[in-house]
Amino acid sequence: MRTLSLFLLSLLLLLLFSPSTVHSWKKDEFRNCNQTPFCKRARGRKPGSCSLVATDVSVSDGDLVAKLVPKEPDPDHDDQEPVKPLALTLSVYGDGIMRLKIDEDQSLESPKRRFQVPDVIVDGFESKKLWLQRLSTEKVGSDEHFSSIVYLSDDYEGVVRHDPFEVYVRERLSGDRVLSMNSHGLLDFEQLRTKKEGDEWEERFKSHTDSRPYGPQSISFDVSFYGADFVYGIPEHATSLALKPTRGPGIDHSEPYRLFNLDVFEYIPESPFGIYGSIPFMISHGKARGTSGFFWLNAAEMQIDVLGEGWDADSGILLPSSQKRVDTFWMSEAGIVDAFFFIGPGPKDVVKQYISVTGPPAMPQLFATAYHQCRWNYRDEEDVENVDSKFDEHDIPYDVLWLDIEHTDGKRYFTWDRVLFPHPEEMQRKLAAKGRHMVTIVDPHIKRDESYHIHKEASMKGYYVKDASGNDYDGWCWPGSSSYTDMLNPEIRSWWGDKFSFENYVGSTPSLYIWNDMNEPSVFNGPELTMPRDALHYGGVEHRELHNAYGYYFHMATSDGLIKRGNGNDRPFVLSRALFAGSQRYGAVWTGDNSADWDHLRVSVPMVLTLGLTGISFSGADVGGFFGNPEPELLVRWYQIGAYYPFFRGHAHHDTKRREPWLFGERNTELMRDAIRTRYMLLPLFYTLFREANVTGVPVVRPLWMEFPFDEATFDKDEAFMVGNSLLVQGIFTERAKHVSVYLPGKESWYDLRTGTAYLGGKTHKLDAPEDHVPAFQRAGTILPRRDRIRRSTTQMVNDPYTLVIALNSSQAAEGELYIDDGKSFEFKHGAYIHRRFVFKEGKLTSLNMAAATSGNLPFKSECIIERIILLGHAGGPKNALIEPGNLKAQIEFGPLLLQGRRSSGVLTIRKPGIRIADDWTIKVL
Ligand code: GLC
Repeated sequence: MRTLSLFLLSLLLLLLFSPSTVHSWKKDEFRNCNQTPFCKRARGRKPGSCSLVATDVSVSDGDLVAKLVPKEPDPDHDDQEPVKPLALTLSVYGDGIMRLKIDEDQSLESPKRRFQVPDVIVDGFESKKLWLQRLSTEKVGSDEHFSSIVYLSDDYEGVVRHDPFEVYVRERLSGDRVLSMNSHGLLDFEQLRTKKEGDEWEERFKSHTDSRPYGPQSISFDVSFYGADFVYGIPEHATSLALKPTRGPGIDHSEPYRLFNLDVFEYIPESPFGIYGSIPFMISHGKARGTSGFFWLNAAEMQIDVLGEGWDADSGILLPSSQKRVDTFWMSEAGIVDAFFFIGPGPKDVVKQYISVTGPPAMPQLFATAYHQCRWNYRDEEDVENVDSKFDEHDIPYDVLWLDIEHTDGKRYFTWDRVLFPHPEEMQRKLAAKGRHMVTIVDPHIKRDESYHIHKEASMKGYYVKDASGNDYDGWCWPGSSSYTDMLNPEIRSWWGDKFSFENYVGSTPSLYIWNDMNEPSVFNGPELTMPRDALHYGGVEHRELHNAYGYYFHMATSDGLIKRGNGNDRPFVLSRALFAGSQRYGAVWTGDNSADWDHLRVSVPMVLTLGLTGISFSGADVGGFFGNPEPELLVRWYQIGAYYPFFRGHAHHDTKRREPWLFGERNTELMRDAIRTRYMLLPLFYTLFREANVTGVPVVRPLWMEFPFDEATFDKDEAFMVGNSLLVQGIFTERAKHVSVYLPGKESWYDLRTGTAYLGGKTHKLDAPEDHVPAFQRAGTILPRRDRIRRSTTQMVNDPYTLVIALNSSQAAEGELYIDDGKSFEFKHGAYIHRRFVFKEGKLTSLNMAAATSGNLPFKSECIIERIILLGHAGGPKNALIEPGNLKAQIEFGPLLLQGRRSSGVLTIRKPGIRIADDWTIKVL
């Protein structure tokens, strides 16, 4: 009886708290800026209210150091304690990076050290530091005010103005500003305090109380981007790519962009509200100056205003610059100022600069770049087998089948429901025999159940996050009462990682990979569905200071665990919902619980583009929409766009109807099959781009302005995007669309991916909206690698031949690349890969080796050949192709098949040139 009532109580609680039962965004569950004291306070400050001045400016250990002291008491702070000076450090790094740190002075007494986020900045970064030798000073205005100048690069310098305090980067020759901080005097830094009698620091939200033992500790300041038309970045929000102003003339009641990792069920498709991830990195772009970036390494809740033109009209502050500018205002609840200024000047430069701080994206395994099939839940082994064989029956390729939470024994991760999944190893082996993989979910909430080995060990070892009174924090999630391991502690991360070994994770095999969900962390009965801010982590760190990085650490621990499992030679695959700066090093992310509607399809594109701009190349949205049942047309359109997401996975909520691609009639099956096959065909391009991202950070899919930085018409476009530098994809986001307008940037032509038809660049084209694909165009001047054989999965494609599609520009030239490796191990890091560059000019195609010939390189061999070379836009009427070495002739055909059985005119094909991808060769078209 007691068990029954306990069961009923648990059920009731689960129903009450479970996001799955709610069908609209519960706005009231979450705080807005007005309900968030630090945000409200900061937004209320007036420009010019900062009275800090820089004193004792000198060089120490290669950095500029200074003290920041208030000139006069701050009217906003009526506390009796004297304000202590702050310590400022300004450092300069190679590649155009300036770093500014402001913290409490460590030589002075303080209740504790403020949290500086460790483990995000990559090891090699410090070695890029340029050691400052001396400072030059410059007089500002007519009075006794000075600025200290530091060398940043041959073209740029950093400036610290002493009074009033301001930091900026400017171009050396013109003196034009690039980026500045505190130019509007909004800097505020609340120092930690020891509680005295009468101090009322507690904060309440709904039924929750935050004890705030150190008092208010927020930081806020303004940042200006010069020569900028728009700002972008700071994911994760469901909103446009170019960020809209949130404050200023004509903008009423807009919230700032919030960065606070939350499990927001049924998020709405247009909102500055914070969702699952936070990357405090903003990029500006404009015609006048190009691109610059600002990154604040801080894991506490952040709120960022984009200030509309004229917001400061009454402030009396006139910046000494006539350049067009975008002003922004940054507020954080805790932490320190650890800010990076990136000077660009091109979009790709800024991304590279950011990546040199936070690390490049991991190189995924080939299978992970293909199509994934997921659902909450595939019920049992029979269901898995059925779904798997239906893909084959319908000739639809796929690589990975996913199991959601119901596969476990009562949401105890690393276990199996042995009734539904009695033979997990065999199930995985069957998939593996077809070259396929499986992914299971492992969430961070650990069921508080003494008979569960993970809980037993974690509680015994003291590995859980503590509540404010020092007990294991106990919150409610899928399994009911749960605790959360403290991943800030490296020892706990290592322990967690060991749980993925084949001995520890019983039922797992080498073809099994992992999905980390709910790692914001999601706590159904916590404040705003997350962990209380006064919970305590390793080293006395308050959860408020770490919150946005909790999921990052969880992702890291899981990914490191998989590397250990594979003895360091199997690239991990871990999908994470929560994310932070640097998450790109640990795997893929997705945009969480979207809905099956057109607006969510539409917003998925800017969401994925924004993640890419901020380092996270490998992202996607649930194809079909997680909540709700998509009409077949929406589902088909989603597959057509999703085929170009870097991470391509179909997924659905358990209350939705089944929606595997064969369930909507033959025509729709055909359309979805076509979309998925398009992805498989383009995998050589995608894989090459993943490698580019892995080396440079430049994302796989890109906003148009990243490739066309001088074309103003592209700056606020986000319904179309580039895949690499060669493909433009235009989404169709409306029901029964008859027409679609496509803006094709640049001066060169574009070739329709299917028909080879050429379209002029620099124009908007109104086209018929095709039912069977979304418009995609290859840019003239590029060469695109493809694989056209239709297979079950990537495993069967390994030895398949390649097709090269050469889209000639007006000079009858084109270039492109192909990267291949074993698709699986880390041997590519030791040179085991093939990287070719193809150049077509003066009627000759040359294949050049791009791989550095370093002695000791591991070999990578491939016998793969090129079976077909397609030339688009060739001006002459060549008849033969002459191949060297060997003096061999290959035939040229006109108007043959271009894509998936479609006949095209105006296209030349060199058939069976019989050349190997690994070799140097040339082909002359005569
Ligand atoms: C969360 C995830 C969703 C998953 C579900 C059950 O809502 O975002 O993808 O299916 O939890 O695990």
